[in-house]
Amino acid sequence: MAVIVITGASSGLGEALALHLSRPGTTLHLIARRGERLNAFAERVRERGSLPRLHVADVRSPDAMQDVATNVLGEGPPPDLVIANAGIRGEGDGNSGKVLEEILATNVLGAAYSILPFLPAMREARKGQVVVVGSLAGYRGLPDAGAYCASKAALMAWTDSLRLSLKPDGIALSLVNPGFVTTEMTRRNPYPMPFVMSAEEAARRIVRGIHRESPRIEFPLPMVLMVRLLALLPPQTGDWLIRMFSKKNHESSRRLD
Ligand SMILES: NC(=O)c1ccc[n+]([C@@H]2O[C@H](COP(=O)([O-])OP(=O)(O)OC[C@H]3O[C@@H](n4cnc5c(N)ncnc54)[C@H](OP(=O)(O)O)[C@@H]3O)[C@@H](O)[C@H]2O)c1
Repeated sequence: MAVIVITGASSGLGEALALHLSRPGTTLHLIARRGERLNAFAERVRERGSLPRLHVADVRSPDAMQDVATNVLGEGPPPDLVIANAGIRGEGDGNSGKVLEEILATNVLGAAYSILPFLPAMREARKGQVVVVGSLAGYRGLPDAGAYCASKAALMAWTDSLRLSLKPDGIALSLVNPGFVTTEMTRRNPYPMPFVMSAEEAARRIVRGIHRESPRIEFPLPMVLMVRLLALLPPQTGDWLIRMFSKKNHESSRRLD
C-alpha cells in the first residue's frame, strides 16, 4: 500500500505524474488551490484503481501545509513519496519586488513547506523518497525570467544540501529539471520552445528517474547540454550567445507576422 503526496496536482505535470503513479493499492494525496479542478481530476485517478485524497491548500502557507501533513500522517503510515511540484512562472521579468516575492514564495518556500512537515515521520520510519520539481532554467539567468531562474537555482543548492542530510536516514531525494513541457504554464509562451515535450512524456521520464533514485532527473538531453554549457561559459560569452539567439528568434517571428 503506497502513500504518495503530490503538490500542484490540479494541472500539467502534477496531473500527469499522478496518473502515471496511479495503480491499485496506492493512496494519492493531491494538493492544489483549485478544489474544483482537483475534484474533476480525482475520478481519473479512481478509474486507475488508486484512492485519491484531496487537499485544497496554498503551498505558500506553512500552517496550511503543516495541516495537510498532519491529516496525511493521521490517516496512516508516512508517505513513501512526496513530490513538491507546485510552481509558477509569474508575470513579468522578476525585476519588481512583488513578482520576485511571489515566485520565490511559491517555488522555493512552497517546496520547503510541502516537504519539511513530513520529514520527522519519514526519518523515524527510515524510508521514503522526496522529489522536488525544479527546471533547467535554474542553471543560468535567462532574459525576462530572472525571478523564475533564481527560484529554480535556489532549489538546486537547497536540494543538494537536503539530499546529503536525508541520506543517512534512508531517505532519497531527487531534483527534477525538465526543459520545456506543454502545460498551462507554457501554453501562452510567445517564444519558441526547443525540444518541447508533452506532460505525459515528461511524467514517464520523471517516474523512471524516481524508480532509479537518481539525484538529478534532467531532460531532454540536448537542452541539458546547452544550459550546462551556458553555465560554464564566461558570463560575457554566455550573454552574447543568448542575445544572438534572441535576435534570430525575434527576426524569424517578425518574418512570420
Ligand atoms: N511547463 C514547463 O515547461 C516546465 C519546465 C520546467 C519546470 N517546470 C516546473 O514544473 C512544475 C509544474 O508546472 P506545470 O508546467 O505543470 O504548470 P501548471 O500546469 O501551471 O501547474 C502548476 C501547478 O502548481 C499549482 N500551484 C501554483 N501555485 C500554487 C500554490 N501557491 N499553492 C498550491 N499549488 C499551487 C497549480 O495549482 P492551483 O493553481 O490550483 O493551486 C498547478 O496545479 C513547476 O514547478 C514548474 O516550474 C515546468
